[in-house]
Amino acid sequence: MASLVSNREPSAQQLGELRQKYEAAGQGHVFKYWDELGSAEKGELYNQLLTIDPNRINELVDRALNPPKDVEKPVLEPLPESATASILDSDPKDIERYYNLGLKLVAENKVAVVLMAGGQGTRLGSSAPKGCYDIGLPSHKSLFQIQAERIAKIQALAGNNAVVPWYVMTSGPTHKPTEEFFEQHGFFGLDRANVKFFEQGVLPCISNNGKILLETKSKVAVAPDGNGGIYQALITSGVREDMRKRGIEHVHTYCVDNCLVRVADPVFIGFAASKGVDIATKVVRKRNATESVGLILQKNGKPDVVEYSEIDKETAEVKDPKNPSILKFRAANIVNHYYSFRFLETIEEWALKLPHHIARKKIPSINFETGETVKPEKPNGIKLEQFVFDVFPLIPLEKFASIEVRREDEFSPLKNARGTGEDDPDTSKRDIMQQGRRWVEKAGGSVVADGEDTGVEVSPLISYGGEGLEFLKGKEVRAPAVIEKTADVQ
Ligand code: UD1
Repeated sequence: MASLVSNREPSAQQLGELRQKYEAAGQGHVFKYWDELGSAEKGELYNQLLTIDPNRINELVDRALNPPKDVEKPVLEPLPESATASILDSDPKDIERYYNLGLKLVAENKVAVVLMAGGQGTRLGSSAPKGCYDIGLPSHKSLFQIQAERIAKIQALAGNNAVVPWYVMTSGPTHKPTEEFFEQHGFFGLDRANVKFFEQGVLPCISNNGKILLETKSKVAVAPDGNGGIYQALITSGVREDMRKRGIEHVHTYCVDNCLVRVADPVFIGFAASKGVDIATKVVRKRNATESVGLILQKNGKPDVVEYSEIDKETAEVKDPKNPSILKFRAANIVNHYYSFRFLETIEEWALKLPHHIARKKIPSINFETGETVKPEKPNGIKLEQFVFDVFPLIPLEKFASIEVRREDEFSPLKNARGTGEDDPDTSKRDIMQQGRRWVEKAGGSVVADGEDTGVEVSPLISYGGEGLEFLKGKEVRAPAVIEKTADVQ
């Protein structure tokens, strides 16, 4: 939409009014270089500043930096059994029931997926959006392609010409390259009418003493408003309206970085739908006390997440009194959320009230003493972010459910640069290839490997979750291998 805004220089009166607003809010320094700017730059800065309410920014910063002190320490407990289930020890008949129900809902065109892909992936160190990343599979498929093919497969499994619309949330830095990538790859075979991109909001970056930072003399430094920005964006982009028109009742939301994500997972949809909950979430067992994952738990009797950046060491390390060999808080958040559409119909009632969290970052910005742009060595400011899970405490425990899934089958996030050895491109590739090997063996095939790489990449177009591989019975697969079509295995 930005292109529709004219970058014409404001009149003296318009400028005066805006300046006064910023000055009254103690943020008048953003005009410090005004007289040095050319006409187009003045227009650019003016129009950007118009979209920001400095008073609201002050409030958010104040609330984030000085959160109300909990009168009493919150009471944290694992979720009660009534709100949890586990794939690991459930009756297979229950899982089958969930799967069949989920697939039926897909066939009835009642299921949509929303991908959160607005993050900047700073830890991975790649400038392209994370979804474009090639984790090094034999096929060289990107994360986006793997997810697209899982959607295609689930549509095919459901039959009935089912459509699962895919809504891809991007942000300022990821929007254009994401759209271009999909275009270049022909939307990975999906019907483009059912893939919609929408952009989350941004917020100004703030100095450690609460001042709005400038990226250049004519541009405020901004950053995506966190994955919790999804709720406002669902409304402002028209995505929710599109879902309403399509008759969507169940929504699966997930993160771009998990190469094992089961997009539109029928088991998950069926589980949540059969329980009639408004929000459901998948968890895996936390690897150890220091793993960078949020914890799903109850806080003062409400479903909640304590994020890894905000948990204290003592809580992270406390052992389960019933079994001291495991952590008490071990339900790791893998950011696979289910929402009933009826819950998304209430966004207006609460979205503006969700809290903002602080991330202390190194933000390239103008040094107001020298007028030079500096790339700081250590954090010089804060980014304000909403978290997608901050809606959990809005609903009662009865309307919330959590299901434990197998890590090796459903969670392998790409967070770090190659060579880190943990949650990096090599572990992503390994986890897909090892899952493929397990599937081949379960189907009665055997895998032989000459070298160390014993993995098999099974295209999602062949199998979504290990099903449909009967043709491998009695066959030998030479690893490392890729199975794109049944004819690939003789
Ligand atoms: C996130 C979870 C954490 C969980 C972990 C599992 C949140 C706030 N935290 O942490 O509880 O255990 O994943 O891997 O959800 N994103 C946007 N817009 C933004 C920021 C992020 O769309 O402004 C998206 C990213 O593209 C990504 C997802 O949100 O798909 C998670 O972002 P990331 O910053 O990687 O989350 P973590 O800190 O790893």
